[in-house]
Amino acid sequence: MKYGHFDDQNREYVITQPDTPLPWINYLGSQSYFGIISNTAGGYSFYRDARLRRLTRYRYNNVPMDSGGRYVYLRDEESREFWSPSWQPTRHELKDYSCRHGMGYTVIGSTYSGIEAHTRYFVPLDENLEIWQLTITNRRTTKASISTFASIEFCLWNAQDDATNFQRNLSIGEVEVEDDVIYHKTEYRERRNHFAYFACSLPGAAFDTQREAFLGRYGGWDKPAAVEAGQLTNSIAHGWSPIGAHQVELELEPGETRQIVFVLGYHENPDDQKFLPAGSQTINKTLVEPVIRKYLDPVEADIAFARLREYWESLLGIFEVNTPDIHTNRMANIWNAYQCMATFNMSRSASSFESGIGRGLGFRDSNQDILGCVHMVPARVRERILDLAATQLPTGGAYHQYQPLTKRGNNDIGGGFNDDPLWLILGVSAYLKETGDWKILDEPTPLDSEAGSEVPLYEHLRRSLHYTLERLGPHALPLIGRADWNDCLNLNCFSSTPGESFQTTTNKEGKVAESVFIAGLFVNAGRELASIASRCGLDGEAASYLDAVAKMEQAVNEHGWDGEWFLRAYDDFGAKIGSKECEEGKIFIESNGFCVLAGIGLEDGKASKALAATQKYLATEHGIVVQQPAYSRYYLNLGEISSYPPGYKENAGVFCHLNPWAMIAETRLGHGDQAHDYYKRINPSAREEISDLHRCEPYVYAQMIAGKDAPSFGEAKNSWLTGTAAWNYYAIVQWILGVRTTFDGLEIAPVIPKSWPGFSATRKFRGVTYKISVARKGDGNQIALTVDGSPIEGNIVPTPTDGRKIVLVKGILT
Ligand code: BGC
Ligand code: NOJ
Repeated sequence: MKYGHFDDQNREYVITQPDTPLPWINYLGSQSYFGIISNTAGGYSFYRDARLRRLTRYRYNNVPMDSGGRYVYLRDEESREFWSPSWQPTRHELKDYSCRHGMGYTVIGSTYSGIEAHTRYFVPLDENLEIWQLTITNRRTTKASISTFASIEFCLWNAQDDATNFQRNLSIGEVEVEDDVIYHKTEYRERRNHFAYFACSLPGAAFDTQREAFLGRYGGWDKPAAVEAGQLTNSIAHGWSPIGAHQVELELEPGETRQIVFVLGYHENPDDQKFLPAGSQTINKTLVEPVIRKYLDPVEADIAFARLREYWESLLGIFEVNTPDIHTNRMANIWNAYQCMATFNMSRSASSFESGIGRGLGFRDSNQDILGCVHMVPARVRERILDLAATQLPTGGAYHQYQPLTKRGNNDIGGGFNDDPLWLILGVSAYLKETGDWKILDEPTPLDSEAGSEVPLYEHLRRSLHYTLERLGPHALPLIGRADWNDCLNLNCFSSTPGESFQTTTNKEGKVAESVFIAGLFVNAGRELASIASRCGLDGEAASYLDAVAKMEQAVNEHGWDGEWFLRAYDDFGAKIGSKECEEGKIFIESNGFCVLAGIGLEDGKASKALAATQKYLATEHGIVVQQPAYSRYYLNLGEISSYPPGYKENAGVFCHLNPWAMIAETRLGHGDQAHDYYKRINPSAREEISDLHRCEPYVYAQMIAGKDAPSFGEAKNSWLTGTAAWNYYAIVQWILGVRTTFDGLEIAPVIPKSWPGFSATRKFRGVTYKISVARKGDGNQIALTVDGSPIEGNIVPTPTDGRKIVLVKGILT
């Protein structure tokens, strides 16, 4: 069953039934002001950091779900009936309900008792505010008197403190109201110079800023007392819970349409201009007022919206493809690329499954996110790379995350994950391949954010590789540390205390437990760094990296091979994990996918055996599970992985992040059918028809789909913020379609299904537009290329040296 449909022309998903299995969300904002918005107007907003600068309040894990949002109410002054055009929070039965989630905007609306109302929510480029454009049309044959109410609940900035520290927070709330603008100024005194505001374009009949005045005693958002009474009370919040609510009266002739614009925003005043008059405690509004006035003008709002559309048009125009498979096209051209931008912006901080208070930007995560968005925002990726590298420790080790506001590393969710540093090499190499900006390697970049400690970025990469080499175990394989990519494979943890975090407890020093996955990652990253080094003229160094890679491959071949597949790890006792000798957890996808992806075993048959085993033991109709058999009980020596019920998360769930490793691995063996088959199993658009089972948004990937051991096999969880986005994008675009960036130019090396007659694509790359068409003439993956009509050797399209800006590339596959 479906809850809506794709509108690819407009790059929208249109939800037509409000009670989706879970709130289906979208993101507003792409620079510093952000919001989450659900299909029924739930969600919240923040400035840069979802924890420290939360603007509006949201209730997690609560009943009813998705409570708190950007709520509009309409009240018919004749019948005194009121409703929400976005369904929530009043949940009336609406006519023509629709929610159009688009690129950086959402439009929600419906008709109720002859009154049509739609609100378009978006964040203009380069501004720290969001606009709600509410359009109301009287579809009756008679005049209508409609009171309109718009409301939000302010958060007292630090979302964690806001949700817990009531003894203080219920006494600190402060607001100002001036010219119909509500200013939320809690703590705008000694330490803070920022405030939020909520403004309305039409003269207000009234406002409220104290929650209790609006909702009434024991009242809820579904039935605000003041809306019920048809009259806000001009309350001024002192303490308790500041809100912003506006009331506007409209008289609508039959067929008449009116628009009201609401602006919710954030502003920081310079230290020396905080108050006006100086010496008072009154906010100086002179700097923010022009901005507010500007966007309250519907014409300006429309211009800002058009700019936003152009922005996305240009980002998504960098790569576009037309294949015989609509799900491939839709995801690669629209939603997967869009999700890559969301993961890049949010990391893993704010979604329906991430509270926004838990995490900063992950080191491992952010480096992988780069794979999916570097072609769209190379300048921002450059900055991100330097920020990430600046937190790297002198040992080459990495903090597991850093805070976007301070840009300093922290280990709040643990440290000592031994795979972390290697991902930096892959992030940087993806950036170099996209941009050719070799100068980045010379950028002086601090260690551990210490001023004065700067070394060239290249030195960071060197240290990343050495970090692994200095931490090898008894089989010359990399020591795992706290965990590797799989955060839950905690081989040095031995936690027996309930509730203790596997991610942060003190570990054993760990001189024994080794990871075959990190070995595969090292082989991959080591080759990349060798290529980088040799292009920098450091041939000796390049050779030493290749030597280290060869030794690592040898260690994998000797100690990381189980006969039919690659082992996963050795535990702290030196016992095998992911071996046929194990009772449970005999085979894992991470090491098999990544070792083959890295090119291990391609020549001696190990790779094809490993992938055959992956297919046989791990692949299901809903994707490839992490391991089999699932752990049926808790193992002290394995940690969190065995704390999950079988079939969920790292314990044999379908981790969608890992599936593309197997897809890429299949392409390395030339198996286009198998690669694309895996791709399709987890492609959200291809799963739209089973939305009742899948339950998460059909337009973005989820981190996990319950595995075959779970009662809810096929049910997705943790949508949006996951490395799944970047890896699936990278797998389909660069490996299956084979439109691949290399240090030396754009490579065309498709490994597509046999049944495809070909595909065409446009790729803007280093200032040139490549118009690519690939036609299949045989069953294989051999490609012969012509560039502007002339055949070329090999499959890397040379960058034009004569100033051509458009290049036609034709490929014949045989
Ligand atoms: C989850 C992991 C996650 C980790 C860190 C674990 O509980 O299962 O997927 O990466 O926490 O937050
Ligand atoms: C989610 C984390 O964000 C990611 O870094 C990790 O690799 C996976 N979980 C697997 O544990």
